[in-house]
Amino acid sequence: MSAHVAVTAEAGNVVLVRLARPDKKNALTGAMYDAVREALAEADRSGAGAVVLTGSDGVFTAGNDLADFLAVSEGGSGGARPAQRFIRQLAGTQTPLVAAVDGLAIGVGTTLTLHCDLVFATARTTFRMPFVDLGLVPEAGSSHLLPRRVGHLKAAELLLLGDPYDGADAVRLGLANALLAPEDLLPRALAEAARLAGKPRDALTATRRLLRGDRAALTAAIDAEFAAFDMALTSPEAKAAIQAFLERGRGSKKGRPPSGEQHHQADGCEGRRDETGETRSEAHRSNS
Ligand code: COA
Repeated sequence: MSAHVAVTAEAGNVVLVRLARPDKKNALTGAMYDAVREALAEADRSGAGAVVLTGSDGVFTAGNDLADFLAVSEGGSGGARPAQRFIRQLAGTQTPLVAAVDGLAIGVGTTLTLHCDLVFATARTTFRMPFVDLGLVPEAGSSHLLPRRVGHLKAAELLLLGDPYDGADAVRLGLANALLAPEDLLPRALAEAARLAGKPRDALTATRRLLRGDRAALTAAIDAEFAAFDMALTSPEAKAAIQAFLERGRGSKKGRPPSGEQHHQADGCEGRRDETGETRSEAHRSNS
């Protein structure tokens, strides 16, 4: 279990999974992936009616912890990584999934929503898939799912250029069901999840399976992405891009650049970290 993932039972046989690592914008460590994966597996085992995935404090997640990526890039093995086990579980989860997305939803924060049956967002939600800018490739089946949702050209725009899009764009593109005020987001997601949970279970599960279509094709895409991702992660361009994020601002107090200097994009994948190495150590542990 991870201290940064809270799993709670909600009314109507709904399970709420909340990401809460505020000091790192809910960036996902190996331990957090494991905790969410376990919550999804347990929902299937226990016959939960639906799972709601959400963030906290106006942040969904800044995506995979980039220190973890660097650790793998510097020699960790790829096959058994917690992120990959999480993605396989996500794609195979039988329990209906609902995403309540407020604020940053970067990388896997965006791609995981492609596996959800209902997605709710706010006007201040920023979706972004900056894989190429990081020297990486898409994951979580997004190279397969996204073109089917939005068409090849739009998918290429979102995955190749990596431009951000907000909650209203997501609704317009068919990537979110509704745009809600932040205070209405979770109540609505929980209410819709409870509605799903109240439906005849077998019919709901079968309909979900039909809607999700060819599972073999999705699995093949996920496998191909893992292979390309592992290769990309050890490339010099990925190492350089990730290092640039992690080292940005070094030399000033708490790793921050001189005041007034623009040090990152508010919607992007640029940034910096301090030199404590705290998360880095966790990354080494959780990816081993
Ligand atoms: N991995 C590890 N740490 C991350 C992180 C990530 N993906 N995203 C944010 N953080 C950390 C920052 O390093 C910073 O830590 P510090 O205070 O110890 O230095 C802290 O979270 C707050 O981030 P900050 O950049 O100050 O917040 P912001 O609101 O100004 O910007 C982002 C938020 C998400 C735009 C920016 O942090 C960012 O670009 N992050 C990387 C996103 C990314 O590329 N994810 C991987 C996708 S594949």
